[in-house]
This record gives sequence, C-alpha cells and structure tokens, in this order.
Amino acid sequence: MYRLCLIWIGLMSVLSPASAAVRYVAASKLWILETGKTSYALGINELNAVQNVYWGKRLAREEDLSAAHTPRRFAFESDESLANEEYPGWGGMRYAEPCLKVSLDDGTRDVVLKYVSHQVSGEDLEIKLKDIRYDLFVVLHYRVFPHNDIIRKQVSIQNRTGKTVLVESAQSGVWYLPEGDGYRLSYLTGRWAGETQLNREPIQPGKKVLESRRGNTSHQANPWFAIDYQGAADEEHGRVWFGALGWSGNWKMVVEQASNRQVRVVAGYNDFDFGYSLKNGESLDTPPLYGGFTDQGFGESSRILHRFEREQILPDRAAPHVRPVLYNSWEATTFHVDEAGQKQLAEKAAKIGVELFVMDDGWFGQRNDDKAGLGDWSVNPKKFPNGLKSLIDSVNKLGMKFGLWVEPEMVNPNSDLYRAHPDWAIHFNDRPRTESRNQCILNMARDDVKEHIFSVLDKLVSENNIAFLKWDMNRHFTEPGWPEAAVPEQRKLWVKYANNVYEVIDRLRAKHPGMEIESCSGGGGRVDLGILQRVDQVWTSDNTEAFDRLSIQNGFSQAYAPKVMMAWVTDVPNMNGRSTSLQYRFLVSMMGSLGIGANLNHWTDADFTLASRMVGYYKRIRNTVQQGDLHRLFSPLQGELTANQYVSKDGKQAVLFAFLHSQQFRYPAPTIYLRGLDERALYRVESIDGKLEGKLKTVSGSYLMNRGLDFKLGGDFDGAMVILERVADR
Ligand code: DGJ
Repeated sequence: MYRLCLIWIGLMSVLSPASAAVRYVAASKLWILETGKTSYALGINELNAVQNVYWGKRLAREEDLSAAHTPRRFAFESDESLANEEYPGWGGMRYAEPCLKVSLDDGTRDVVLKYVSHQVSGEDLEIKLKDIRYDLFVVLHYRVFPHNDIIRKQVSIQNRTGKTVLVESAQSGVWYLPEGDGYRLSYLTGRWAGETQLNREPIQPGKKVLESRRGNTSHQANPWFAIDYQGAADEEHGRVWFGALGWSGNWKMVVEQASNRQVRVVAGYNDFDFGYSLKNGESLDTPPLYGGFTDQGFGESSRILHRFEREQILPDRAAPHVRPVLYNSWEATTFHVDEAGQKQLAEKAAKIGVELFVMDDGWFGQRNDDKAGLGDWSVNPKKFPNGLKSLIDSVNKLGMKFGLWVEPEMVNPNSDLYRAHPDWAIHFNDRPRTESRNQCILNMARDDVKEHIFSVLDKLVSENNIAFLKWDMNRHFTEPGWPEAAVPEQRKLWVKYANNVYEVIDRLRAKHPGMEIESCSGGGGRVDLGILQRVDQVWTSDNTEAFDRLSIQNGFSQAYAPKVMMAWVTDVPNMNGRSTSLQYRFLVSMMGSLGIGANLNHWTDADFTLASRMVGYYKRIRNTVQQGDLHRLFSPLQGELTANQYVSKDGKQAVLFAFLHSQQFRYPAPTIYLRGLDERALYRVESIDGKLEGKLKTVSGSYLMNRGLDFKLGGDFDGAMVILERVADR
C-alpha cells in the first residue's frame, strides 16, 4: 500500500509541470498552489500531518521553499500545536481553535488527522487525511483560480468508522499569516438599516469571534476579513491577506493570535448549537472558504474579490452582463398595491428609462399589512381582479420586464398555510414560538416544506411572465426546533435549512433560466459568497438615506462588487430625518446597481427631467461602474469628503463621484487625485454638473493622477460627477 502510494505521488509530480496551478514536489513533499500573483504552499511534515508552509506574493523559485518542518516543542506546547496544520482536529495536545471536533458513539472525543494520499488534477488538489485510529476521513479540496488570485478551500468529512459520529465543529479551513505580531484586522459589522460598517483594529493575543447565530448571514456581521501588517496598508499600498466564506446559514470566523504569536483565521459552520450526526457511510461537506493576498493594499484586495465574484461566482459568470435599471414599489406604496396604482407607477417609471419594474410586498393573500398573508402565494383578487397578467402585460408593453417580491421561507400565523400546517413552522413542542414581524419561519430543512415552497414558486413563475424575483427574509431564527425529526437529527436544521434554500433557488433557476433573483433579508441580511452563486444582486440595506448609504456602501465594497449592490433613489426626508437633493441621491445610487424606489406620483416635472438625465448618464457609465475597477479615493469614515472612481476594463472610460458631507469654515474641498489611468493617455473631461473647477477639456492621465481635480462643492451634502473618456494615446 505504502509503495503504491509512493508510485502514485511520483507519477503525479512528473505530471505536474512547473507552470501548472497546482504542483506536487515529491522531493520536499510540498504542494505549490499558484495564481498569477500569489503562491500558497503546504507540505507533509515529520509527523505525517499536512502543514501550511507559505501564503503570500508569488515566489520565483519553488526550490527556495523548504519541506514542512515541525517547530520544536517546549514546556506546555506540543510539536503538533506549533505546526501550522492545514486541518487540525481537536485531539492530541492542541489548544487553538480546531477545524474539526467529533464525538464517537463509544465515547471517544479525540481526532488526530494524518496524511493518506492526494490527487492533483488541473486547478484542483485533493488531500485525504485519516484519523490515527478510526476510519474517519477528511478530504481537503483546494481549487486555484489562477487569473483571479483566489484559492478556495472546502472539506468533506467522511464517516466509515462503522459507528455513528457526531460532528460538533466542522470548519472549512484555516488561513495562517506569517509568524509575528502587529497585525490589524478589518471586518464588517452592523445592524438592520446600518449594515456593512467597516471596522479596523489591532489583532491582540486571544480570539476575536465574528459570527452569526441567527440562521442566516445576518446584518450584524458579515463573513469577510482582511488582515494587514503593522497597520501599514492603505488603499494603494501594503500587504493584505483577505478571505470570505460562502455560507448563508450560521457561520463563524475566529481570528486568533496564539501564544506563539501565530495569527490564524478559522472559518466555517458556526459550532454554536451545532451537532451533525453522521451514520456509517455518510459525509458532511463544509461551505467554501476563499482567500487571497495582495501587496497593493485594501483597494486591490477589494478589486480582486470584485473580479472574482463577477467571473467565478455570480450566475452570469460565464458571460457577465450589466444589471438593468430597476424600479421598486415598496417605499412608494408599501402594502397598498393594486393594479391601477402599479400601472400608474409603471408608466412613470418607463418615462425615465427604467428597464425592470418590481412590485414589492402586498400583492397576495390577505396581505394588507405585515400581520397576515405570508405563506398564501395566490394573487389577492380584490387588488388584482385580472390576476397579475394585466399588470405584467402593461409593464411589458411599456418596454420593461416585470419582477415580483416574495418571502417564501415565512408564514404569518394568520394565513391559510399556517392554519393547515402549524407544524411546518420552526418550533419546540409545548413552548412558545417567538414571532418577529408577526411571522414564523417555515422549516425549510423538512423535505415536504422544501417541495411545497419549490412548487408554489415554480407555479407562480410558470404561470406569469416574471423575469425577476426579489427573495426576502424578514426575521432571524428563534427556538430552532424540529420535533418531527429524531433527536440526534434535529440540530441538522442549521445546515439543512440553508442548503435547501440553495436547492430551491438552484432548481428554480434551472427550470426558468431567464429569471433573475435578488437576495434580500430586511435589507442586507443575506449577503455572502454562497448566496451570490445563485442570485444576480442583493438588497444592500433598508436604509436608503443617501448620506448613510455612503458608509454602508463603503463597507459593502470592501468585500462585494458594485454590480450586485442594489441602490435605490428614494424620497426625502428619509432616515434620520435627513433631506438631500435628488441629484445627490442619484449620484450615491449610481455608484452601484441603480434603482429607483421613490413615489413617482409625488415627483414634479423638474424631478422627472432630472431623473431622466441621470438615468441617461447612468446607462452611459454603468458598464464601467458595474464591470470595471473601483478605486476608493476618499473614505466616508475620514474627513469631509467621499470620493470613488471607477475605471472600465478596457481603460477607455473612467467615472469619478465626489461628495462633500458638511463644509466648515469656508474651506474648499480637498484636491482629488485620480488612480488607475494611463499617465500618457489623453482623457476628455465631462463635468456633468459644472462643479469641476477650471475649464478642463482634454487632459493627460498624468495631470489627473498628479495634479488632480478640484471641485466647487459647498454647504451640506453636495455631490459631483465627472466622466472621463480616453480620446488619445500619446
Ligand atoms: C424588507 C425589504 O428589505 C424591503 O425592501 C421590502 O421588500 C419589505 N421587506 C417588504 O415587506
């Protein structure tokens, strides 16, 4: 067996040419994973464990890397705890956050994983590990995305012990930083109407836990991190290691600085209330965990993720296309939708260039407020006596596609569905089930519930010309019981629920390939790389107030592409009682995927004229905003200015947005230096609002990046936009 293994390894190393994305170097027992600009190396150490060796900028020569070597133990530390194991189980003398914790039915709670075999195929590497005593296997799957500078880790835990194994913690993997202290962590937290706020703080000895225990990704924290060294990185410079988890259920990221000054990030399923029993022959797959490195600062780390999402994650990844301009009825009509009212809004929306008209909540069952109707997905005949067809036909005749709001995972106790199936709601027997927004959660982990939801949505989409679903989820889990399942199976709910949401979406999309989906959860409660594999865009926040949006969007853009960031222009006064000009609101929304959510019945002629103009500009620049490179020039978290610049993929267009928050002491706004242009090229400058200082017509990239631009911005909440078209290469 051992000899066979060696022959296999030898063969694979011969078959791994020096340019391949994954190579095995038999002499040093190292695997080298290479992207265009990064290297990741791991190897088999003296203890036959798989150990991380390097993660950072691409190395010129693999010969420079030494074989994996276990540091020598000292008092109270073991060899294995000092080795950076790629997938440490909780067993032996290990005290840091483990990747795997199990309990066997003979009482054993100890797992020690050793290398068994591996397989390299193209951009994939699979390494099989096995417990030292039991036939408990862990297969580590690595996928390299050479053009995107991203590596994905995913793990399959396989039980062949002949016994039942309870998995108590299953992580997707661990990322190790080069040894030492002085690292700084960037992460995103928030709350409803205040999502994706960027935090930066030094990493100290001990653990920082980012997590969701709420059943979905959550508004409160988002599964993304970035780490830089000595706080030395900025938007353009410095080493940044970053990663994100693709999971829309309970998740956890533990950033730990161990006592040997080793910083590590373990991420995967949240082990809080976790318990996944595996019968003999069963397995559990973890969510994908992505990671990358750049030495060009936070700006480049975000651009790497944005490109990766567009090219490898999103449903249109094979041929990325731009998002349509959308209208959504929610803030205009709330639950009071009806055929005449929606048609009236649709006519007005079409006039300003909207391409997708979305009717939000209120169209079904007895849904007149948030107290009833969820679960009864048939059209309310009083509001829509002709069904949806008449409205959809009118919308289509106006040249727009039609989209519809649904909240499939939920049920109001005041609904026919709940009256028929009270047991379908998540609950513990004989205990109160908490209602939040007057609703309970349908137990999507159950196959009958999953099938019901699929068939309801399938019928809706099959019977109507629906091009887009806004899939909402307006509460978090409480009392996560599943009393109908056997007790050892009940806690699988946490995993099965999210997987079944994925399955329903995947099946719907497969059956209705033209239909697109937006992920919403009371705003941005379900935004992660798992849901983004199956939806085209996300609702960023229920907070549509333009100034607040600047910081929400700034945090969002750290991890997620502007293309998926839905941003509506809505009415004022808005949240915080703040009023900003319509132009300012448009400019803020135009930095993502533009939508309009205002009550168009209240707009003046001047508003319509301005809106048509802004939508026209947006259509000119959206390819650049959605598919191009984002450069964050001024952060809303510092100083009086926010400025973002986007450069198209082909470098032919660039767009600059600048916002002054609140002027003081008559200071002029600071000069803005552009980035990412060609120094020698000439650009035609178009100030769409005349707020650019000077009479610049055509200037060089060198001028724009070194002399920079000044703006006549004053007062409170002022904004400006400049379009640059490359007209000549000098
Ligand atoms: C929460 C969403 O975030 C809103 O945009 C809207 O769709 C409401 N739900 C409808 O109930």
